[in-house]
Amino acid sequence: MELPLPIYESYKIGEQDDFNIVVGLDKNLVAQLEKYSLDETDTELQKNTGDLARFGRGSYEDWYKKDRTPFALMHKNTNALAALVWFGPKPLGKKSMKFEGTEEVKTESNWHTISFRSYPPFRGTGIMKNFSNFVLDFYKKEFPNVLFWTGTDSRNEPFKKLMFSLDFKPNEDASDLNSNWLVMTKKV
Ligand SMILES: CC(C)(COP(=O)(O)OP(=O)(O)OC[C@H]1O[C@@H](n2cnc3c(N)ncnc32)[C@H](O)[C@@H]1OP(=O)(O)O)[C@@H](O)C(=O)NCCC(=O)NCCS
Repeated sequence: MELPLPIYESYKIGEQDDFNIVVGLDKNLVAQLEKYSLDETDTELQKNTGDLARFGRGSYEDWYKKDRTPFALMHKNTNALAALVWFGPKPLGKKSMKFEGTEEVKTESNWHTISFRSYPPFRGTGIMKNFSNFVLDFYKKEFPNVLFWTGTDSRNEPFKKLMFSLDFKPNEDASDLNSNWLVMTKKV
């Protein structure tokens, strides 16, 4: 399978308990993603991500053009988007729009960023670790030479726990802890 898929193509690649794991988001999943992103009552999402600007007010189609590959955990009974992980090429440590940065910390090639979301009522139920490992393995088969990094607010405790459980380590050189920007990397 060649990644990224054409936009809105979506295929089931696995199962996890009450969920299907899919690569690519169809229009139904994108509509849910846009709705979640606009939900200003989801303080965890709004505090820690730029999704309101990225998907809520911004355009999924524009974002997709940056060679992003999204994977979703979809609840079998309801088709609800329960969780999302996406990947794509991005220089190590480059801040997202949430952190208002544009500065590139390093230009080593082969760095791909990974980003994580789970949505209520599924958030905090322990669904992320298995899903994340599954899609990391899947993506690595397509791009065997990539190195993974992720960045977030250094006070994001559930995220840090998830990242440590996935064997990511803090990368001090790429982080900017004075502005609470924590970068974690996984070399494979
Ligand atoms: C980060 C995120 C994806 C983690 O997913 P999750 O559904 O909370 O994952 P889990 O239920 O597997 O919990 C992960 C760990 O955090 C712990 N945790 C959950 N909520 C917590 C909290 N409020 N404070 C401290 N630890 C918490 C869990 O106990 C678990 O630890 P364990 O494995 O030692 O038991 C999810 O919280 C989220 O989407 N947050 C908003 C968006 C975001 O911050 N994304 C990350 C930026 S890329």
